Amino acid sequence: MGPRKMCGISGWVDVERDLGEPGSVAQITTGTMACRGPDDEGLWLAAPVGAGRGRAVLDRPGGGGGRPGNRLGRTMAVQISPSILSADFARLAEAAAAVPNADWLHVDVMDNHFVPNLTLGLPVVESLLKATPTPLDCHLMIEDPDRWAPAYAEAGAGGVTIHAEAAKAPVRTLRQIRAAGARAGLALNPATPVEPYEDLLGEVDMLLLMTVEPGFGGQRFLNVVLPKIRRARTLIDRHGGRVWLQVDGGVSAETIERCAEAGADVFVAGNAVYGNDDPAAAVDELRALAEKG
Ligand code: DX5
Ligand code: ZN
Repeated sequence: MGPRKMCGISGWVDVERDLGEPGSVAQITTGTMACRGPDDEGLWLAAPVGAGRGRAVLDRPGGGGGRPGNRLGRTMAVQISPSILSADFARLAEAAAAVPNADWLHVDVMDNHFVPNLTLGLPVVESLLKATPTPLDCHLMIEDPDRWAPAYAEAGAGGVTIHAEAAKAPVRTLRQIRAAGARAGLALNPATPVEPYEDLLGEVDMLLLMTVEPGFGGQRFLNVVLPKIRRARTLIDRHGGRVWLQVDGGVSAETIERCAEAGADVFVAGNAVYGNDDPAAAVDELRALAEKG
């Protein structure tokens, strides 16, 4: 697949139902899928999917395509990534299963150095990978991401995000993440400006703008970050619009629309999902609100 105008689309894809119609070819090779639409439009699925029903994230030439009601045909790419930081750590597999409609599961790795909190590391991520088909969005809030990030990608995480404030060799580390088959993310704390990282946009698949100071779930959304989300959206669009723009921290039914309106397209939500009696319904509600934004 050569360079082309891309727009990100995501959703649950049933390989037979969504891609197996006459005129389509669905091909699964080592966990990635390539397919061709009825109008001979090339489609490229970027995230690992399994056989049968799987989660796919795809880029395709802009506009058109897809059948009515089929999320493959939509041009708006809202993704919801529930943060298991707000789940019961003794029941992580159940927490993952509670949100089958989520696009990702957000996994907060904290080392008690980069942030004043300690959570989990690679062994737990390896176990979670076996316990859920939902791709893992690993957010590394650790002091030495250059040393540890590639291992998360090699283990099979769908995305690995490192903090700009912590990485000493971000370009090398982002390239290693990609080389290991994961989407490479770069995170910025609320007080870190985005403009100095414009030249790195070609090295990343996702920019994460923290909308709280990292370290804890359940904090209040920081409106002060909204202008930066807008500026990041402008920079990303200027560079072709390929990079996903994620927000993390205090994202809820009350705040998600303003994030979407400012230009975010991937939404992490911990408390708003796992603090809800029905986490899957919370995911649906957040998605609907973000799509309005
Ligand atoms: C905070 C973490 C977030 C956290 C978000 O440092 O990076 O992912 O889980 O939790 P809520 O959505 O509750 O603010
Ligand atoms: Zn996070």
